Amino acid sequence: MTDNKITIAIDGFSSTGKSTVAKQLAKELSYVYVDTGAMYRAITLYAMRNGYIKPDSFDKKALIEDLPSLHLKFIFEESLGFAAIYLNNENIEDEVRTLEVSQYVSRVAAVSEVREKLVAQQQEMGLEKGVVMDGRDIGTVVFPNAELKIFMTATAAERAGRRFKEMKEKGQDVNYEEVLKNVMDRDHLDTTREDSPLVKAQDAIEIDNSALNIEEQFEKILQLAEAKLTTTNK
Ligand code: DC
Repeated sequence: MTDNKITIAIDGFSSTGKSTVAKQLAKELSYVYVDTGAMYRAITLYAMRNGYIKPDSFDKKALIEDLPSLHLKFIFEESLGFAAIYLNNENIEDEVRTLEVSQYVSRVAAVSEVREKLVAQQQEMGLEKGVVMDGRDIGTVVFPNAELKIFMTATAAERAGRRFKEMKEKGQDVNYEEVLKNVMDRDHLDTTREDSPLVKAQDAIEIDNSALNIEEQFEKILQLAEAKLTTTNK
């Protein structure tokens, strides 16, 4: 075999630029890119729309009961250059990116039944390999045997600054303090939840990109992927 495909898992804290590099990598290698955060966001949006989750309450039971009827899929969109997320045939790509969804998503992602459903779908999507998947538990739970595992970090202030700029550019009405608080709250919830907390897999390569620009980060990870591909195809 000379063209074995590998599985690439990119995990890390929120707003570390995981998705940017994962998309670039998938394009370069002609692999499929899967944004697992979007899947947790989609379920969160559904819970919000149905009034299951509010600032002071969360009807988990109602959400769990509805899970079998929720169908998620990604459809590649030429204009975006990546696949948009759909919930029951509705394109919700823009709606899942709001700060409101970000504020609730860690609580929804802590529900084991939600994780079970999404992990199963993610494993199915990666069955054929040739996939770059980003998230929090890809190298630890979804694909513990992934050939290449990257764990991305950057300071909270750096990440909040990037997220703030991105949201402003999209015309969203946000302030920096609010975004920083969200980044820090999510770090806490994501790393302390009982089911599949965010941890670096033992065999993951950690990359702190606080001082790297997008090109430098991409080059570094592409080199790691190419080195893996060379050894896999020997
Ligand atoms: O990557 P993101 O910011 O879009 O992810 C949104 C939330 O979803 C994040 O706060 C934690 C959760 N998540 C998760 O628990 N497991 C994943 N594989 C991906 C995301």
